[in-house]
Amino acid sequence: MSEQLKGRTVFITGSGGVLGSTYVRRMLTAGARVVSSDLPGHRADALKAAHEGNGNFRFYDLDVGDEAQVEGIFKRIMADGWEPNVVLNNAAITGELLMGAGKSFPDFANTSVADWEKTLRTNLTGAFMIARQMDRDIVGRYPAALINVASMYALNGPHHQIYEGMPFKSFSAYSTTKAGIHGLTLWLAGYWAKRQATVNTIAPGAVFNGHSDEFQRRVGELIMAGRMGAPDEIADVMLFLCSKEAGYMTGQLVNVDGGFSGW
Ligand SMILES: NC(=O)c1ccc[n+]([C@@H]2O[C@H](COP(=O)([O-])OP(=O)(O)OC[C@H]3O[C@@H](n4cnc5c(N)ncnc54)[C@H](O)[C@@H]3O)[C@@H](O)[C@H]2O)c1
Repeated sequence: MSEQLKGRTVFITGSGGVLGSTYVRRMLTAGARVVSSDLPGHRADALKAAHEGNGNFRFYDLDVGDEAQVEGIFKRIMADGWEPNVVLNNAAITGELLMGAGKSFPDFANTSVADWEKTLRTNLTGAFMIARQMDRDIVGRYPAALINVASMYALNGPHHQIYEGMPFKSFSAYSTTKAGIHGLTLWLAGYWAKRQATVNTIAPGAVFNGHSDEFQRRVGELIMAGRMGAPDEIADVMLFLCSKEAGYMTGQLVNVDGGFSGW
């Protein structure tokens, strides 16, 4: 067993999703204690079932958009005896989650303010509230790291044509929140530096999750590597960012996208 994350207690939001559940599995293997959280539901249940009985795994119900829940989360974890020294702002509403499987996806002209605001509440306000709580409860008490999760669609525009005829599209509010979260990284990095807390952004590329051959072909043409990434390939870099070896990095955005952003 690798010891890359020995001594790290990693708190993850939205950890029941395709990437979050991969991070949890890989971090446990790398020797971390993992404090996972998500909305109650089938994803959370599957994650709990997968790691039941592992003494280095704990799970807390948490809606990152709920201010009172976020204000209590680190106190709850600490009351149970663990002190998180790495925090991942991973929870997000993607366009697919917002619309729900099978519902038609609105074009830009028909995007509602309610859907826009719901996306901002989770992806951006939620990340802000987690970081603010980290400032109140952790930063300055012991060395810590925050990793904010952006996307290849944070600082690069989507090629809208690859979504034609697909059951999902890229969503304007999603891109906006993913660009915004790196602003939070940049603002906080200097603010926390003297208190021994680092803040970085990871920007994953297109991750394979059962996409059709046609979509894989279209998006693959835009990626230097010629293909979508596997969740474990994003986790490889996430684990490094969570490790002590990333201690001299702060205020950075790390693209893990097979070269999508390099062209
Ligand atoms: N999968 C990709 O291709 C990809 C690419 C770039 C960036 N990302 C980013 O990586 C992160 C993880 O993505 P994923 O692919 O695992 O997505 P996913 O949709 O599989 O998982 C997202 C998780 O967030 C949770 N969530 C949603 N609203 C929440 C809330 N209010 N409070 C708490 N949890 C909430 C969901 O329940 C879900 O488990 C996200 O920030 C996403 O934007 C993913």
